[in-house]
Amino acid sequence: MSAFTDEIARRRTFAIISHPDAGKTTITEKLLLFGGAIQMAGAVKAKRDGKAATSDFLEVEQARGISVSSAVMSFEYRDCAVNLLDTPGHADFSEDTYRVLTAVDSALMVLDNAKGVEARTQSLMDVCRLRDTPVVTFSNKLDREGLDPFELMDNVEESLGIQCVPLTWPIGMGKRFEGIYDLVNKRVVFYEPAAKGRRNEVVTLTDLNSKDLDGWVGTLLANKLREDVELLGALDPFNPELFMTGQQTPVFFGSAVNNFGVRELLDQFIDIAPPPQARATTTRTVQPDEEGFTGFVFKIQANLDPKHHDRMAFVRITSGKYERKMKMQHVRKGKEMAVNNATTFLARDRVVAEEAYPGDIIGLHNHGGLKIGDTLTTGEDLKFTGIPAFAPELFRRVRLLDPLKSKALVKGLEQLSEEGAAQFFRPLEGSDYILGALGVLQFDVIASRLENEYKVRAAFESVPLQAARWVTGPGAELEKLKTEQKRRLYTDVADNLAYIAQSEWAVNYAAEQYPKLSFHKTMEI
Ligand code: G4P
Repeated sequence: MSAFTDEIARRRTFAIISHPDAGKTTITEKLLLFGGAIQMAGAVKAKRDGKAATSDFLEVEQARGISVSSAVMSFEYRDCAVNLLDTPGHADFSEDTYRVLTAVDSALMVLDNAKGVEARTQSLMDVCRLRDTPVVTFSNKLDREGLDPFELMDNVEESLGIQCVPLTWPIGMGKRFEGIYDLVNKRVVFYEPAAKGRRNEVVTLTDLNSKDLDGWVGTLLANKLREDVELLGALDPFNPELFMTGQQTPVFFGSAVNNFGVRELLDQFIDIAPPPQARATTTRTVQPDEEGFTGFVFKIQANLDPKHHDRMAFVRITSGKYERKMKMQHVRKGKEMAVNNATTFLARDRVVAEEAYPGDIIGLHNHGGLKIGDTLTTGEDLKFTGIPAFAPELFRRVRLLDPLKSKALVKGLEQLSEEGAAQFFRPLEGSDYILGALGVLQFDVIASRLENEYKVRAAFESVPLQAARWVTGPGAELEKLKTEQKRRLYTDVADNLAYIAQSEWAVNYAAEQYPKLSFHKTMEI
């Protein structure tokens, strides 16, 4: 293998998907600790609490002490270069969260052991399914009482339609949590009792019938483990092909806050998770080891420095090597651009990239013309597919507070919408502009940016709208819809037709009424 293909093979680019409070922040912190990227536990958390706000650039972010925009964290672990893309999850949930998943090669699903699959996990998994992304599962909080591990796996299989294959198995839980059994390496990893001094100690135990096990964890749990492992023997084994097509998920158990089971997870994750994968374009599939550079923009972050209205476009490299000062073709605009100052992301610091490889994320400063979904190449005319917009779930009517500024308002809303900060819809009938988003904080971000960057003051008012779909189909049917349902129809910035109604039920009903039309929850950008 050449040095180039070696670099590709050692990359792992992934994101964590979870429902708020399942433990994503805690586990991120532990992963970074293992990667030597942060020295002190609590650093990631502190960032969220607004104490060390290195990525909290926007005013609203600072005011709320949380990080609105997801970041990229890169670290070395064993011989791998790991790129962990953050998926904002609490109030900072937005389209970015979903779109990050278009830029990864695998995902780590973190579940609260007591709760199993929750609403947000479900919707993030729906997005993973758009590209059959391989998913590894970590069941967290085993130090608390939760679902029996078999029940948890049933819950995952039923809610997500994905087969579970445990690679570690818990020994007890809650107050009686004694550790995990590593089913691959046949090792017991002790959690407690700390009093016996075995915490995190790893003991190889090829024969589960060994009396040693009874001595360590008590006969009750030792027998339970033996029974469980026998039952597990009847399950299908781990199948890399089924994993790679998103049909099977390896499952790990542990307690992130106690940093327990996380190293086992990371070690096996590194082995199992795929290196950078081939990507589809409208004309051909691009292989990562092709010489020509290609990449696509999956996120735009504004106001990294509030003093300058700057922006950073986050580019996922899909093939070729990035080198400083190289020239790239901005395919949509048919323009060449010299890139002198791309940034890479080493956990805490942004550093100017000398070189970067497929799987890596680079940040391009102030290339105002770049939009989400844009393709960059070393000359070839390509357009990557699979970078969708997602139907918003929250809506506000835009009210201009200074009537003389209506042009600036439209310009601002259009540009911010193109950046992916929220979605701007114009009605076919009437003059009420509607702003759609997935996270409520997006409205604050838009209001603050309209005021700071476009000098427009606008208020966002509640509207009785809750669900949107893009509509496509034969012209005559679309005309019929436009005649009969005009007041529910809007166009987005790219002039796509959207149906927006007061409830999920109403959009589903409309879809039934117009069977020749397609109602889409996602739309290719
Ligand atoms: P999130 O990013 O997915 O929203 O979750 P986060 O890591 O912030 O964790 C949510 C809460 O769950 C935190 O408690 C965290 O300490 C706790 N937690 C994470 N992993 C475990 C675990 O393995 N066991 C137990 N028992 N708790 C865990 P909090 O009270 O909200 O915050 P804090 O006061 O602990 O900082």
